[in-house]
Order: sequence, then structure tokens, then C-alpha cells
Amino acid sequence: MEIFQEHKVGENCLLIDICFSSKPELNAELSELHGLVHAANWQAVQTISAKRAQPDPKYFCGKGKLEEIKQIIEDKEIDLVVFNHSITPSQERNIEKALNCKVIDRTRLILEIFSQRAQTHEGKLQVELAQLNYAATRLVRGWKHLERQKGGIGVRGGPGETQLELDRRLLRQRIAQIEKRLEKVKKQRGLSRASRQKNEIPTIACVGYTNAGKSTLFNKLSGADVLAKDQLFATLDPTLRKIDVPKLGEVVLSDTVGFIRNLPHDLVEAFCATLEEAIEADLLVHVIDYADEHYQAYIEQVKLVLAQIKADSKPILNVYNKIDRLDNLTPHIVYHKNKPADVYLSAQTGEGVNYLYEAIAKHFNQEWLKGVLTLEPEYGKIRSQLYQLGVVEKELINEEGEYQLILHIAKSDFDEICRHNKLELSAKFRHH
Ligand code: GTP
Repeated sequence: MEIFQEHKVGENCLLIDICFSSKPELNAELSELHGLVHAANWQAVQTISAKRAQPDPKYFCGKGKLEEIKQIIEDKEIDLVVFNHSITPSQERNIEKALNCKVIDRTRLILEIFSQRAQTHEGKLQVELAQLNYAATRLVRGWKHLERQKGGIGVRGGPGETQLELDRRLLRQRIAQIEKRLEKVKKQRGLSRASRQKNEIPTIACVGYTNAGKSTLFNKLSGADVLAKDQLFATLDPTLRKIDVPKLGEVVLSDTVGFIRNLPHDLVEAFCATLEEAIEADLLVHVIDYADEHYQAYIEQVKLVLAQIKADSKPILNVYNKIDRLDNLTPHIVYHKNKPADVYLSAQTGEGVNYLYEAIAKHFNQEWLKGVLTLEPEYGKIRSQLYQLGVVEKELINEEGEYQLILHIAKSDFDEICRHNKLELSAKFRHH
């Protein structure tokens, strides 16, 4: 798919970051933009930051800024201006005209990286679909692939069909064709997933912010040779491996594409198949770059995307990775009552991986109860104990004034509550 291949490796980029709020500039966002440009194999030559109350409708940034940018383009031989924002097609055209230089926005930058990285058939189809959807809003350039397919996009269709109408029609056809193919590939994946589920092999998906070390951990656990590079988005396709966990047995492990801040919604859709493994998994292993000072902000971003793909109610095991880069920190495990343990390790050196195995085995060996516990009003004490444990997902009150507590609780904790209160509660519990 050549639609976006017009940018070469090593292009000199000028990065533009405009802050529209009164909040101080977020360094994390800028370092991410640098990481993205690096991942696209381009050079970030200079960054311009500015503040504005709102985007200029015509040029996105102000006229004065534009002059400054123009000067830098000339002085530093810039090939490409990269905006850390979404800009409209007409703004893009206006800025390109004013600067006489190629301009891309953040979505296109991400698409560019995706297209360089996609390896499997499905990954490539997904990228192409995302690119076509993006192009559909910008019918101005990048039509080489359609020319080849249809013998020239300049060929007019029926009488009265304008160039633009013809382009749109070809684009729609191509999108429909890819969607059909993707549907087929997805069905095949669904079948293999169904057979896994029938065999009841627990599945684990590694998720996390891009560059957190998912592939490195995946390799360590599975001995697989998945590309692990100090680049954002080294992984684009989900990779599945069966691994043997001591004291548990076989589990299926999948590596997923890294999440990023404000991933454009279209791209979340387009990469849904790589994230489908996360939606279907029994356990998510959230890999966190603990050596990155912005790690907490990244955790929040990952949680947001998990919520977007409706995977936020899954049990999550947090892996605080790269501890070899931090002083005075040894591998360890922190247990919690009602969620999987936190593990501090180094995927690179392998220190602490035994704790991860331990946490995984413990999670799957633990019996969990999910269902509704109906309690009469006099059982307020038990109700508050359950709240203290943090196992109440939802509460309703029925017509009889009874509490209906939707619980997700370890069986051992449930038994403990019964013992402690000298009660038999199982008759009041209805499994989901
Ligand atoms: P994406 O594919 O972009 O989502 O990245 P990823 O999360 O799969 O990260 P990857 O495994 O590719 O690792 C990113 C970089 O961090 C690589 O340079 C790794 O060598 C490095 N890295 C991973 N784990 C560790 C670790 O435990 N310690 C150190 N020092 N570096 C690590």
C-alpha cells in the first residue's frame, strides 16, 4: 500500500506543539512526539512550542508563528513540518501553501509508523483501512495505489462524474473490499480463539504504553524472537505463544500493540484486532516503564484505552518493569486482597520474572466467585465488610428492601467472611 509512502527515511522534521490551555506544557507529550518521529525513522531537527487561546481557522497557528516556521524551514533545510495535533484538511493545504513545505498532523504520523511496521496480512489490511478512511477526508493527494488498480484515477467515470466524485467512488469501493477481507480474517481468528477457549487454556494479554517493554517481557517468557527495539510501536501485530507457567501449566500469552496518548478513535477501531486479544483475555498483564518519570500519566492513558475497548473490568496484573535502571530497587511482589499482585521486575535482565510466574499461577489457581449476594437489611455489618474488601461492583435494593450486591470475590475471602460471622451465605449467593 503506497498511499503514504511519499516520505523517506531520514526526513528532517520541524515539530510544532501548540498549547491551547492555561496549564503548563506537558513535557510528556513533547517527549512522546519526539519518540513518534524517531519511530517513523525521521530526524527531529527543532521543536517550536507556542500558546494560543484557540486554533486559527485558516492556519491553525498564528501568522507570526508561521513566519517564524518559514524562516526555520529555510535555515535548517526542513523537509517536513509535523503538528502535534489534528489539523483539518483545509488548514493543512493552507499551511503547505504558505510554507511551501510538506505538512502532516499527528494522526498521519501515527499512520505512517503503523504502515512501516505492519507485518501480517491482517495488520497490513488494518493499516490500509485506517489510511483510506483518513484519506477519505482529504481527497487531495496520495492516489498512486488507486491509479495502479483502476488504470488511472484521471479516467473519468460516467458522463458528468467529476474527478472528485470518481475518486470518492474508487475510495469507497476499496474500503468496502478491505472491510470484507478483514471480516474474513477476523472470522478465522475467532475460530482459533474459540478452540482455545474450548480447551480452557487461560489466556493472558500483555498491554501497556508503547515502549514499556511488552515485547521484551513477551520474549523473556516465551523465548520468542519478537522485534524489541527502543522505538515506539515496534509491535504492530498481536503475537501469540503458549508458555508453561510453573505450578499452573500452559497459558496462551499475547503481545499487543502499544497504547499512546489520545490515540485517534479511528485508529483504535482499526487496530481493534490487535486489541481483541486483550478484550478476550482472562488476565491482562499491564507492563509499565517504572524508570520513566511520567509512568503514572501513562498508566492513566492505558486505563482510558482499556475503557474504550471495554476491557477495563478485566483483572489486571501490574508489572513495574525496568527496575534495573533504578537504584536501590530489587525485584519483589506486592500482594493485594482482591486483585492480582503487583510485580517489580526487569524484563531485560530477567530478574523478578519468577515473581511474575508466581503471581500468574496464584491468580489462576485462586477460585473466584462472581454473582449476586442478597442480604436482608439486618446484615449491614457483612455489607460493610464486603465494601471494605473492595469486592462490591454494584449495589441495588430490591422491593423487599434487601441489598443486592454484585460481587467479584476470591472464594477464600467469601469463606472467611462466612466463618468470621458464623453464617452460611452460599444460599443467598446466585452465581452469574
Ligand atoms: P511497543 O512495541 O512500542 O509497544 O514497545 P514495547 O512495550 O513492546 O517495548 P519493547 O519490548 O520493544 O522495549 C522498548 C525498549 O525498552 C527496548 O529498547 C528494550 O530493550 C527496553 N527494555 C525493555 N525492558 C527493559 C528492562 O527491563 N530494562 C531496561 N533497561 N530496558 C528495557
